[in-house]
Order: sequence, then structure tokens, then C-alpha cells
Amino acid sequence: MKHVPMAGLSEMQKYWLITGSVGPRPIALVTSLAADGLCNAAPFSAFNYMGEDPPLFAIAIVRYGEESHRVGEEKDTLANIMRREEFVVNMVDDAIVDKAVLCGSDFPAHVSEPEAVGLTLEPSTMIGVPAIAESPISWECRLFRLLDISAQRAIVFGEILAMNFRDDLLDEERLRVQVDRFFPTGRLGGPNYCSTGERKRIPVPTWLPSAGKPRE
Ligand SMILES: Cc1cc2nc3c(=O)[nH]c(=O)nc-3n(C[C@H](O)[C@H](O)[C@H](O)COP(=O)(O)O)c2cc1C
Repeated sequence: MKHVPMAGLSEMQKYWLITGSVGPRPIALVTSLAADGLCNAAPFSAFNYMGEDPPLFAIAIVRYGEESHRVGEEKDTLANIMRREEFVVNMVDDAIVDKAVLCGSDFPAHVSEPEAVGLTLEPSTMIGVPAIAESPISWECRLFRLLDISAQRAIVFGEILAMNFRDDLLDEERLRVQVDRFFPTGRLGGPNYCSTGERKRIPVPTWLPSAGKPRE
């Protein structure tokens, strides 16, 4: 084993080690509205689910870094979420991952990424922010809480108000996602991604079979 203490490492060294270790990560393609009504879209892989009651998830958003012509600027997504307090999380699968990643370019605030990369917008049902029509699953969300971690980073806690599923992805009777038809793309370290087509089922057995019913 090779041992690497975090103390003394630069921010970017920690970034590469952390994001290289946590994978595959889901990708939230977040749509949000600017003050003038322009629809913004950007991908975020510091993203995961946090709970059911309320139905919560978190996304970490940093300021634009050295690689950008907007270095130090707040991201449009964060500014839009703070102003309007509502946004949509569009899940990313193999069919749209290339376009979703393109949305991660440092477009100026006056450019609408969905239009620039060729994704279609469709109205949401409960909020004023549109969803991406090509996304297999989208969540209509409101801001639950914002946690300022540092001058560079904020964590957005979002609450899911409603979900939209491509027709074949929802088992309406059981109210479950048709997992075998949903192929979210995973992000690994750097510009590396993986498909999720290969599956295996590993149900957790109950330690005392008489004490509970296993989850399916
Ligand atoms: C796959 C992918 C995942 C990303 N994840 C994050 C993330 O978790 N947090 C973040 O701040 N930026 C992340 N980025 C960078 C933003 O998407 C990028 O800075 C984008 O231009 C922000 O756009 P905006 O100013 O319209 O919000 C990611 C980029 C890609 C391509």
C-alpha cells in the first residue's frame, strides 16, 4: 500500500486523488433560469442522494478555476439557484453524455447551453424551470439549504418536488424505477466515463431471517 496524508497537498492534488477514488459518480445535468429567463445547463458529478423525508440530494459547486476564462467567477448555476430557489436535475445516460459534458464548457452567462449543444427544453409541471427532454429521468427541485463551505465552494441541498420518467422507465404498479432499462453514465477521475450496462444482483440477506423481510 502507498500512504498519502492529505495535509500539505495542494487543492488540485487533493482534487485528483479524491475524484479518482470516488467512482463512478452520477452526473446531474442541472437546468436553471437566469434573471432574464435564459435557460442554463451544467453537469455536476459532486452529486448524490441524501434522504427521503424530505427527499433530499446534494451538489457541490465551486467557483470557476484556473482552466477557465472566467477564473474566480461564481458559476451561473449557483447564482441562478440562489436567486430563484428552483432548478431541475436531469439524469445523464449514454445517449446524452457527450452533450451534457459539452454543457460543462465555460460558456459566458448570456449563452444558453441546451441550445448551444442541441438539447431540447420542455416545461416542468411544478416549477418554472424547464427540463431536458432527452434526459431519461428528471427531478423538479427547490433549494432546501445552501451551505457555504469556503469562499470557493458551496453545497446546494435540493428537495425533490416531482420526478419525470421516460415512459418505459417507471413501473407504475410498484412505483419503482425499471432499473434494467436505465443506464446512467458514471464519471470516473478526470474526463473518464463508464457505461452501466453490465449488472449483477446481490440482495443483502437478513442476519436473523425471522427478524425481518429482506429488501428486494
Ligand atoms: C462531468 C462533469 C462534472 C462536473 N462536476 C462539477 C461539480 O460537481 N462541481 C462543479 O462546481 N463543477 C463541476 N463541473 C464543471 C461545471 O460543469 C462547469 O464549470 C460549468 O461550466 C458550470 O456552468 P455554469 O456557469 O453554467 O453553472 C463538471 C463538469 C463536467 C464535465
